[in-house]
Amino acid sequence: MTHLPDMTAEYRPLGRTDIRVSPVAFGAWPIAGMTSIDVNDADSLATIAACLDVGINFLDTAYCYGPNGESERLIARAIGANRDRVVIATKGGIHWGPDGAQTLDGRPETLRRECEESLRRLGTDRVELLYLHAPDPKTPIAESAGELKRLMDEGKTRSVGVSNVGVEGLAQFHAVCPLAAFQPPYNMLQREIEADSLPWCRERNISVMVYWPLMKGLLAGKLARGHVFDPRDGRRKYPMFSGEEWEKNQDFVDHLRAIAAEIGKTVAQVVVNWTIHRPGVTAALCGAKRPAQLRENAGAMRWRLSAEHLARIDRAIAERGTPITRGAVRS
Ligand SMILES: NC(=O)c1ccc[n+]([C@@H]2O[C@H](COP(=O)([O-])OP(=O)(O)OC[C@H]3O[C@@H](n4cnc5c(N)ncnc54)[C@H](OP(=O)(O)O)[C@@H]3O)[C@@H](O)[C@H]2O)c1
Repeated sequence: MTHLPDMTAEYRPLGRTDIRVSPVAFGAWPIAGMTSIDVNDADSLATIAACLDVGINFLDTAYCYGPNGESERLIARAIGANRDRVVIATKGGIHWGPDGAQTLDGRPETLRRECEESLRRLGTDRVELLYLHAPDPKTPIAESAGELKRLMDEGKTRSVGVSNVGVEGLAQFHAVCPLAAFQPPYNMLQREIEADSLPWCRERNISVMVYWPLMKGLLAGKLARGHVFDPRDGRRKYPMFSGEEWEKNQDFVDHLRAIAAEIGKTVAQVVVNWTIHRPGVTAALCGAKRPAQLRENAGAMRWRLSAEHLARIDRAIAERGTPITRGAVRS
């Protein structure tokens, strides 16, 4: 392991901008309380406020994080006068329908209205990064990209990104609006982007901000094999948390537990450290709802796994094979 002392020494550029982000980012979905249980405002506010103490300057939220934008509102409350010390990314293009279902709407007028509402909730006149959350099958991606470019030209966002698209979507978007960031799912067991979109972004200096680095807590290593999920816990619906998949995932986490114990780190720190040092990955968006989780995840920065441990992780990943992960909702 090698250690870096300075809190900001590892910060990385956001695309081609002069904005620099911590490689571990705070993912603000769990504090929205829609799939996580035991969420409360006091813990959420303390978690956001702790970001700056632990060297995390990058906050990832979205218009749809919470039935009424609770995640963005909590960020505004917690950050207050420290606005200039953080990089805020939000997303538009998904909202909750009256039936509680996710609705994709990438029409220009919707993206503009959601951006303006997000800025009001966040108590700011511009964000550093605004993503199209997911392409809307009813709206050509070029139309959505065109509106995000206009919002950037008007100064409502410093840069633009897109999430949940493939290479074709990235190229179509980038042709209309220069992309600073791409946000796909990625972790030790979900590595599809390595085949195409990750190298595509790398060649173009587009940052890749990966979500689910901890696979919704599975790779944090704290869920014991015999864990019984609370009926309100949104993770119950994912195949990776049940049956044979769960057993195989636990076998895999056992390998990580052994490595973590050898180097005096936690499983989550090993996993996030591995993630942020993958070529082309700019930041890992780590969801958290308690300050202790945030501190632990921040402890994945400023050191590196040895070649020997990386090789052991490679072998464990190969042994695990591809997990079944379908059945997820976007967050
Ligand atoms: N663009 C998109 O469509 C999209 C989709 C998904 C996520 N995201 C972004 O990516 C972020 C990360 O995704 P996520 O929050 O769903 O998943 P995640 O980061 O993979 O996992 C978050 C969960 O893992 C557990 N956890 C985190 N740190 C831990 C620690 N140190 N020890 C033990 N458990 C820990 C917590 O669960 P418990 O405390 O509940 O056990 C937490 O709610 C989101 O917050 C969001 O910003 C974007």
